[in-house]
Amino acid sequence: MRLKSCHSFHDFRRMAQQRLPGPIFDYIDGAADDEVTYRRNTTAFETCQLVPNVLRGVGEIDMSVTVMGQRLAMPVYCSPTALQRLFHHQGERAVAAAAGKFGTMFGVSSLGTVSLEEARRISGSPQVYQFYFHKDRGLNRAMMARAKQAGIEVMMLTVDSITGGNRERDKRTGFSIPFRLTPAGMMQFALKPAWAINYLTHEGFKLPQLDGHVDMGGGALSISRYFTEMLDPSLSWDDVAAMVREWGGQFCLKGVMSVEDAKRAVEIGCTGIILSNHGGRQLDGSRSAFDQLAEIVDAVGDRIDVIMDGGVQRGTHVLKALSLGAKAVGLGRYYLFPLAAAGQAGVERALELMRSEIERDMRLMGCASIDRLTRANLRFS
Ligand SMILES: Cc1cc2nc3c(=O)[nH]c(=O)nc-3n(C[C@H](O)[C@H](O)[C@H](O)COP(=O)(O)O)c2cc1C
Repeated sequence: MRLKSCHSFHDFRRMAQQRLPGPIFDYIDGAADDEVTYRRNTTAFETCQLVPNVLRGVGEIDMSVTVMGQRLAMPVYCSPTALQRLFHHQGERAVAAAAGKFGTMFGVSSLGTVSLEEARRISGSPQVYQFYFHKDRGLNRAMMARAKQAGIEVMMLTVDSITGGNRERDKRTGFSIPFRLTPAGMMQFALKPAWAINYLTHEGFKLPQLDGHVDMGGGALSISRYFTEMLDPSLSWDDVAAMVREWGGQFCLKGVMSVEDAKRAVEIGCTGIILSNHGGRQLDGSRSAFDQLAEIVDAVGDRIDVIMDGGVQRGTHVLKALSLGAKAVGLGRYYLFPLAAAGQAGVERALELMRSEIERDMRLMGCASIDRLTRANLRFS
């Protein structure tokens, strides 16, 4: 399969599947338990229909949005994801560069494989730092100071990963960091020698956000032990309030789903919340962000930027979320499969397709700018 023949999320997913060893593909593609939430994230959009208006003068389309003080040329951004250099040797570098070209925001994960400083140098676009809260408060303060020093625009604390989700596909293949493959998982690597050659001929695996604090790149601590031993399950609203004060800038919580929590986020001074179930990778059976969006927008949408992610594969999905009141929409697997398929060129092609879909769909909806998208043009079945 060639990049030129990728026209949709499903094409990129197929191409990624052809290129990646099975355990790595399943790490990206998989989710928790029975993957019910993962499936619902996308099918939720299908319960919503668009009612277009016509003859509205849509020669010029403006799809820019301002979210958490950042002006984005398009209403989608690349949500932070872990371990990107395992998917393609360019990893976060490719995503930072592509986001820069398209004038949109991107996130670097605490479990990123390129340093946030290097990503900052590559991309002129607004950068998010995705933070996990450690038991060691000194370590948290040091990581925040480092992010501030690097000029990170938005701090994003992930709050839905207080413990790891039950990813059964990873259990079956033995996917973990460091690798502990089952014999069947090892066979899968043997079937994709091109990936192995590529991986082995580029710089070694490391986790630069954690280097100096946690020996994971070197292999002393696995990612699952990192979650259970280093992260703080007693994390409370008071801790986060202190963090918000210390950061003193744009600060959002990723993984808020209830109205009660959304209101608490406003009270402690957050400037954004991301409705998210982590791509279905944490609590299976939890509601999709799109299903929950209207309730949250109605409760706090006038006081905080409400953003959502999960299951977004199409321009029309983005328009539906924006019509319900989201200020922007995060992409996960939508750019990860293209990254795995073709590095930076893949991510750029995916963002280009998304941009042209949004532009075409806005024209067909009769909306020349994002503020024209409202609930009046939605129906649910
Ligand atoms: C392979 C993979 C790794 C991820 N790593 C992280 C991470 O390190 N931190 C985080 O907050 N979210 C992480 N996420 C969740 C994404 O940021 C985002 O919430 C999710 O992918 C959205 O769902 P979608 O993939 O259906 O678009 C990850 C998701 C995937 C698929």
